[in-house]
Amino acid sequence: MARDLKKLGASITSEIAKQSLRSLFDGELANGGQERLHKRLTERIGRAEETQLRERGASLEFGRARLDVEILADDVLRIEWLPGHPPVAFATIEPDWEHPEVAVKLHRSATEFTTTSMAVNIGQDGSIYVSGSGGQQVWYGSAPEMRVSTSGIHRGWVHRARLHHNESIFGLGLQAAPFNLAGGTYQLWNRDPGGSYGPGTSPLYMSMPVYMGIHRFGSYLVFHENSSRCEIAIGNDLEAEFASGNLVTYIAVGPPPHLLRRYAELTGRPPLPPKWALGFHQSRWGYKSADEVKSIALQFAEHDIPLSAIHLDLDYMDGNRVFTVDPESFSEISSVSAELGEMGVKLVGIVDCGIKIEDSYDIYTEARDSGFLVRDKDGSPATGVVWPGPSAFCDFGNPEADEWWGSKYRLLADKGISGFWHDMNEPTSLAFWGDRTLPSGSVHNIDGEKVPHAVAHNLYGAMENRTAYNALRELSPSTRPFLLSRSGWSGIQRYAYAWTGDIESTWAALRQTVQSILGLSMSGMPFAGSDIGGFSGSPSSELFVRWLQAATFMPFMRVHSSFDTAAREPWQFGE
Ligand code: NOJ
Repeated sequence: MARDLKKLGASITSEIAKQSLRSLFDGELANGGQERLHKRLTERIGRAEETQLRERGASLEFGRARLDVEILADDVLRIEWLPGHPPVAFATIEPDWEHPEVAVKLHRSATEFTTTSMAVNIGQDGSIYVSGSGGQQVWYGSAPEMRVSTSGIHRGWVHRARLHHNESIFGLGLQAAPFNLAGGTYQLWNRDPGGSYGPGTSPLYMSMPVYMGIHRFGSYLVFHENSSRCEIAIGNDLEAEFASGNLVTYIAVGPPPHLLRRYAELTGRPPLPPKWALGFHQSRWGYKSADEVKSIALQFAEHDIPLSAIHLDLDYMDGNRVFTVDPESFSEISSVSAELGEMGVKLVGIVDCGIKIEDSYDIYTEARDSGFLVRDKDGSPATGVVWPGPSAFCDFGNPEADEWWGSKYRLLADKGISGFWHDMNEPTSLAFWGDRTLPSGSVHNIDGEKVPHAVAHNLYGAMENRTAYNALRELSPSTRPFLLSRSGWSGIQRYAYAWTGDIESTWAALRQTVQSILGLSMSGMPFAGSDIGGFSGSPSSELFVRWLQAATFMPFMRVHSSFDTAAREPWQFGE
C-alpha cells in the first residue's frame, strides 16, 4: 500500500481514505462481516430419509438437506448438496464423456454405485467414499455441515474429507505456499495484497477450488464449483468452508496425468498461445514514451538478446483511462509498433477494469448511460478507487456489457497493440484496510440474474477474460489472442494466461514462484510465469540471473518491475 500511495497524488489518497471509511460502515458489515460478529451456527444434515434412484445416480432426502449424486464418467462423479443457490455458469463446459455403465446396490446403510473404474458408497449419514478399481479407498468425505445465521437462514457449507497418512495436496490456483499444500490454511477470495507479497501471503489474486490428492492408495482430484469466499484448512482432515451457495463437487479418480486431463475436459483446455508469446518479454512500470520503448527494443538488438514483446504499463494511457493512449508521450505508438514489428517485437498493453468516473470520458459515459456498470445496493454504479482515481466497473457477464467492452479492444489493436494484460481485475479498489474490492453490497447482472458480489467476486477477472477472448477472436479470427491476467477462477484457462503478480525481490520469493507456478499448473493453468527479479525490489545481479535461468523453464518468461526499482533490462546486470 505504501507503494501505491507513493505513486498516487494527494487527491486520490484522500479518495482512498473516503472509500476505506465507507467500507468500515458498509462493506465489512454487509458482506459476511455481520456473520463474523454474530458467530454462525452449525446445523447437521440429519440422516437420509428417502433415496430415489436415477439412471446413473440418486437423490437422497436428509432431515435438513438434499444430496444429488451423478456418475458422469467411469471415473468421475458429481455430488450436489442443497440448499443454496446453484453455481454461476462459468467454470464447466459440456464434457464429451461417454455415459458409463453403472451397477447399483442398495445395502441396509448405504447405496453403492460401481463402474469399471470406481465404486461410490453413500452412507445414510451423508458420508461418501470412493474406491478405485483395486478396491482401495481413495477418497472419503464425511457428512457436510451447514452454516446457518441466528435466524436460521442458510449461510454456506462446511465440507470435510479424511486425508491419508502423508497425503500430498496440490492446486488451489495461485498460492504463495509450498508446492505440497498439506499442513496449511488457504483463503480463496481473489485479492491484491497491495504492491508486494512474499511466501505465506493468502489470499492472492487467482484462487481456484480445485486440488489433487496423492497418497499411498491412489490419487484423486476434487473441484468444488462454488465461487463464494472459501477457507480450506489442511490438517489430518481437509476442511473447506464456503460462505454461500449449494455445495457442488466433482471427484475424479485415477493417476495424476489422467486427473488433469479429466479436469481439462470438464473446465476447458488453454488455447494454443501465439508463437511469439513463447519468447522473451520485457516490461517495466515506467517506460514513459514510445521513444523509450523503441530505444529498449534497439538495445536488445544491439546486445543480441532475443526479444518477443515489450509490455506497456500504465504509462502509455492518457491519465490511466482504460482504452486510451497518451496523446503526447505515446503519439507515435502506431509507427513505433510498426518498426518493432519489423524487428519481430510485439507490443502488449495493460488494460485495467476500473473506468475513470469523469463526465468528459466517453468510455465512462457510454457504460453509465447504457447500464453496463456493476451496481451498488441502491442501484447506482458501484465505485472504487484505482489508478485513475474514483472508478466504476464494467458488469462482465451481462452479454450486452460484454459486447460493448469487447468492442473497445479495437481502439488499441488499431494502434498496433497485439496482446492485452488484464490487471487489477480481482477487482481491486485501493483501500487502507478491509476488503480492497467493490463495496460488498454490489450487485452484478450475470446473464440476466442479479448476483451478489459475494458470489460474483471470484469470477470477475475470469469473466473479463472471456469477454476479451471472444471479442479478439471476432476482431481477428486468424490470430491467436494473447491475454495475460492477474486474477481468475477455474475455467479462466480457456481464455488467458497468468503471471504471479507483485512478488517481492528476494531469494525466498524466487523459490516461492517455482512452487506457485507448479501449483497453477496443477490447477489447469499451465501457461504462467513470474516477474523475473521480483516486482517490488531491486535484485542483485546474482538473484536476477538465477531468476532468469529458472524462468527459462517456465512457459511465460517476462521481466517486469515497479516504477521505484532500479532499471531491469538484462544488460543492467553486467556480464
Ligand atoms: C499492479 C500489477 O501487479 C503490476 O504488475 C503493475 O505494474 C502495476 N499494477 C501498475 O499497473
